[in-house]
Amino acid sequence: MEKEKTEGRRSGEELSLARRLARYRESGACPMHMPGHKRNSPFLWMEPLAALDITEIDGFDNLHEARGILREGMERMARVWGSRRSFFLVNGSTCGILAGIASLTRPGDAILMARGCHRSVYHGVELNRLRPVYLWPGIDPETGIQESIRPEQVEQAVEAQPELRLAVLTSPTYEGILSDLPAIREILHRRGIPLLVDEAHGAHLGFSAGFPGGAVQAGADLVVQSLHKTLPSLTQTAAIHVCGDLADPEELERQLSIYETSSPSYLLMASIDSCVRLLEREGGERFAAYEERLARFGEQVRALENLQVLGYGRDSLDRHPGFWKKDPGKLVLLPRQRTQSGAWLMEQLRQRFGIELEMAQEGYALAMTSLCDTEENLNRLAEALKVLDGELEASENSVWKGTSESMRNVQAETWKHHREQEVPPLLLWSWEVLERPGKAVQRQDAVGRVMAEYLWAYPPGIPLAVPGEQVTEAMVARWRQMEQAGVALHTSSGRWKDGQLLCLADTGGKNG
Ligand SMILES: Cc1ncc(COP(=O)(O)O)c(C=O)c1O
Repeated sequence: MEKEKTEGRRSGEELSLARRLARYRESGACPMHMPGHKRNSPFLWMEPLAALDITEIDGFDNLHEARGILREGMERMARVWGSRRSFFLVNGSTCGILAGIASLTRPGDAILMARGCHRSVYHGVELNRLRPVYLWPGIDPETGIQESIRPEQVEQAVEAQPELRLAVLTSPTYEGILSDLPAIREILHRRGIPLLVDEAHGAHLGFSAGFPGGAVQAGADLVVQSLHKTLPSLTQTAAIHVCGDLADPEELERQLSIYETSSPSYLLMASIDSCVRLLEREGGERFAAYEERLARFGEQVRALENLQVLGYGRDSLDRHPGFWKKDPGKLVLLPRQRTQSGAWLMEQLRQRFGIELEMAQEGYALAMTSLCDTEENLNRLAEALKVLDGELEASENSVWKGTSESMRNVQAETWKHHREQEVPPLLLWSWEVLERPGKAVQRQDAVGRVMAEYLWAYPPGIPLAVPGEQVTEAMVARWRQMEQAGVALHTSSGRWKDGQLLCLADTGGKNG
């Protein structure tokens, strides 16, 4: 009985895709079709999974022309999230972002986008030859974390650029910071500009009162979510939801047929289907229990003196007015005196406590949680933080005890300075550069040249430099500083590890 409940089976007609695959495996059908492993390949070392791995055979529908079980699954997803229409994605949020941008723009359009967007948004710009107008998020003075995009920024931008055709924002960010999407949508919709939200990190936001609602509830026109990042679903699984009136589901579907594989994995789709069914059936109770576990974690870290967990324990979001709201599921861990880097913290937790974090930046490290985290997981992290906190205490003065104002001022100045260094002169559009010959140069010789590739820290995959931007001395110094703090940088050409950057062969841009 219990087994039936957890697998979501109520009647023969409502078998989940996963159970239908299991039943099909038992039927003994002879597979004279793809995939090539034929469900008979012990050398894959994945027999249980391979046995369920099929293609579009009779009775299993077709993602790109869904009429059966996949269509029912996507309709269920739309009901659960409250969207007009929802689509399963098996190529991650990346393909949803590319298809979404293509569906809402024409080549050459001007678009408004947060400079903190993921690289897939930049690739959408490049592929559609768009002209981006950037919204630079502020930097929280105490932590160095990118703040929310403010509605006033959006208002100013649309006033100044009446020809904007689309706005793309990331909310929440990697660190869990949300922007005021209801207010931003209102500003954009008054001018008929659609809003696409990259909610790769926020698929879980709308299921209980303890989490800030997500972009679907805010009425964004298109919302892209990585189910695999924050919900129980396999890597690569994602969704795109059509919510507002300014998006056209049919054009989106056409673009998905371009950007998404024509051989979608049934394992991935079964995993999406099971995830949606779980949320429909037990989402409320599971999120309530998750919230309680996070609250208990918050109690445990209240004692920390030298480590800080953003918005938890003795910290509160009121201390960071640039954050509109924050996802409580993201645990941003900061050594308070900044004498230690985020990479140090990540390394300590890995080496000494067997805890692997999601990422580290200069000033902080990020632990991601989900409703699948056990109480033991969270206790283990809290206990490890307490041990490290005690060790730091021996040599540091706690900011909670004093000195905080001057410390905060020094930090605020540092981040402001970094931000000024990060805004490079834009000489050409990315797609103009990529049509011209490039030349690999030594990093230090790149100053004054025009970037012909992307440079990013991965994660979070936000470009530090974009093709068409001119490299300044301050930028090179800043990248060096980030690397010294243990942040891993990458370029599209992969030459960074050899000390090189791809720049335009001729140094000149529009001004040069
Ligand atoms: C903000 C953001 N958007 C989009 C993506 C791409 O998501 P996916 O890996 O599911 O394609 C990521 C991945 O890290 C991300 O952080």
